[in-house]
Amino acid sequence: MEFCCKEYFKVGKCEGEKLVDGETMPLVLQPPEPNNKGDIDSLVSALKTNKDWFEQMIIKNSAVLLRGFDVKNAQDFNEIVEAFGWDDIRYVGPAPRTHIYKRVWTANEGPLSEFIYYHHEMVLIKEYPKKVILFCEVPPPEGGQTPFVPSFKVTEKMLQEFPQVVEEMEAKGLKYSFSAVSKNDTSSMRGRGWEDTFGTSDREEAERRANALGMEMEWLPNGGVKTILGPRDLTKVFDGRKGRRMWFNTIVGMHGKEISSAFMADGTEIPENVVKRCEEIIEEESIQFKWEKGDVLFLDNLATLHGRRPSLSPRRVLVATCK
Ligand SMILES: [Fe+2]
Repeated sequence: MEFCCKEYFKVGKCEGEKLVDGETMPLVLQPPEPNNKGDIDSLVSALKTNKDWFEQMIIKNSAVLLRGFDVKNAQDFNEIVEAFGWDDIRYVGPAPRTHIYKRVWTANEGPLSEFIYYHHEMVLIKEYPKKVILFCEVPPPEGGQTPFVPSFKVTEKMLQEFPQVVEEMEAKGLKYSFSAVSKNDTSSMRGRGWEDTFGTSDREEAERRANALGMEMEWLPNGGVKTILGPRDLTKVFDGRKGRRMWFNTIVGMHGKEISSAFMADGTEIPENVVKRCEEIIEEESIQFKWEKGDVLFLDNLATLHGRRPSLSPRRVLVATCK
């Protein structure tokens, strides 16, 4: 598609961007005049005017980075998110998060020293967001990048290297188990308690809600709960994304961990070497840039995995998720 919005945006560059099958990831959009940040109202109005085009750019390039605009705080960020009219989607998952303002949440309250492993947001839930939008309010002094990965590249490489196992996993489907503690425990990045995850402290109600999300529950003696999900797909193909097979699973993140695991749906173990190599491939294909104050990153959650590198403090990145 032609670049049609010159009066509103100029294409920039960022360190770490990659050309993937002819598309720059992320696509950096800057103010049209250098050294003129403009105000938040003109940015919001430019986004509203070019809403459809902007959405097409997110899908085409998988990631769009707004840089150099005057985005100061959660209120400004919320206005940007609301400019598009995309519906909000409630977060369900293990990360402890705090509500900040309207559609804006903290990204993850887990310790900054930990690496948050690559994932499609809410990949295991029946309804997942199409877009994950992140805003950098306080850039970290060191580390703390939000690397992302074009998901179809992972499938491509895994198919080249392990065609049989990949097709076996695809045919059988996957099953995951995950244990959640009781009550919030922010000492772990996966310390979100089941009460908060399911929005209730009533076990029966939690079970009803979990079932509605496609999970089964097994209560543990310590008050926590083991949730089992499956069968789930290994890869998915989404409309409008060139028939690409997205690596829409969380095998590497959950396989063989203390509180989680991943199997084929019939109980077959996933070979250790396959998981290990997959982890390397994801890292090889990752794209990362250094956060700058005021950056807003739009990720096509259907096409990219994202994570968080360990960071020095302070770092404040806020998030909104949309249908
Ligand atoms: Fe995430």
